[in-house]
Amino acid sequence: MSALPKAFLAESLGRIQPSPTIAVSQKARDLKAAGRDVIGLGAGEPDFDTPDNIKEAAIAAIRRGETKYTAVEGIPELRKAVAAKFKRENGLDYTPAQTFVAPGGKMIVYTALLATLNPGDEVIVPAPYWVSYPDIALLGGAKPVIVDMKLEDGFRLTPQALERAITPKTKWLIFNQPSNPTGACYTREQLKALTDVLLRHPQVWILTDDMYEHLVYGGFKFHTVAQVEPRLYERTLTMNGVSKAYAMTGWRIGYCAGPEPLIKAMAKLQSQSVSSASSVSQWASVEALNGPQDFIPKFQKIFEERRDLVVSMLNQAHGIECPKPEGAFYVYPSVRKLIGKKAPSGKTIASDEDFAAELLDGEGVAVVHGAAFGLSPFFRISYATSTEILEEACKRIQRFCGNLR
Ligand SMILES: Cc1ncc(COP(=O)(O)O)c(C=O)c1O
Repeated sequence: MSALPKAFLAESLGRIQPSPTIAVSQKARDLKAAGRDVIGLGAGEPDFDTPDNIKEAAIAAIRRGETKYTAVEGIPELRKAVAAKFKRENGLDYTPAQTFVAPGGKMIVYTALLATLNPGDEVIVPAPYWVSYPDIALLGGAKPVIVDMKLEDGFRLTPQALERAITPKTKWLIFNQPSNPTGACYTREQLKALTDVLLRHPQVWILTDDMYEHLVYGGFKFHTVAQVEPRLYERTLTMNGVSKAYAMTGWRIGYCAGPEPLIKAMAKLQSQSVSSASSVSQWASVEALNGPQDFIPKFQKIFEERRDLVVSMLNQAHGIECPKPEGAFYVYPSVRKLIGKKAPSGKTIASDEDFAAELLDGEGVAVVHGAAFGLSPFFRISYATSTEILEEACKRIQRFCGNLR
């Protein structure tokens, strides 16, 4: 197969990388298919099945013939359910006309940014970040401004760092909590300190990615930006989705709410791209949002137990420091003390990428290196897998670290 001539490809494509988390999951699958004993801890999706009431709603929708094109912004029933969700769970008043549905949360970020960015615009992305934010900003011709968050600050953005990053060219702050990849969350007071900074800079819009809202532990109370500071309502896009909370990653539904002119601009772009999200998945999502929510605490309890297990076992691994996050299903341990050590293969571990590669090679455990999320030397583990598998994976990590010289 001959390569395409460079001039044939879009210049924008040269600015971005394929998603590294998808790449790690694929590599783990390939190794498994080749007969290797591999534990994949790279994938960011719940291992639970979609609840039955949601599946039944989709089947009923198919039987009713809800299989045609839908309105670009989403079916009215889902937009109403989204508005009701924001009122019920976040105390936010949005009309259905202020809501928008897309094929996945990723497509919400993509559509919002592509509908608003121009060359020269800056997008603040706190690091470590979800891998797609900087690349989507780059596709939009904007400059991602990466702001490092520190382990000592619990991987939280500080008001000082935010203030320093803002310029007259800043168009968006992309804000995500519970965080992928660290699991970090913000208390109301911590959020307020950030919104106080944002109030002073009226040119900055906030895209808050609340995808993991329901996955918080130990009684942590989730708050979102526009709820904490109503004066930011007019320049906040509150984004969420069914993928993580309802174990619906393959259904591809994300949603958001914000000022109507922005929603209209996003609809214009979506009308010339994917047209709409899938009709059947939208009906399933109506049931997810309006139906019983009693499995959420059950998911939470299981994830909390796994988090505690993983944090405890990783902190017993030689040279690893693993903070205990409040949410999502990730941990982001530091391998600072292991840099410079030699693996049994003879290779020196010079970076978190080397650490992940040697761990996969030596012990068959697939994790994602911190550089993929913009902050080294760390790695991310997704604990959305069974306790038995997690125990085995952590034992292998302990053995691997114990064998480094
Ligand atoms: C922080 C964050 N936002 C958005 C998404 C995208 O979700 P979806 O699968 O609905 O596109 C993910 C998925 O991994 C995520 O981790």
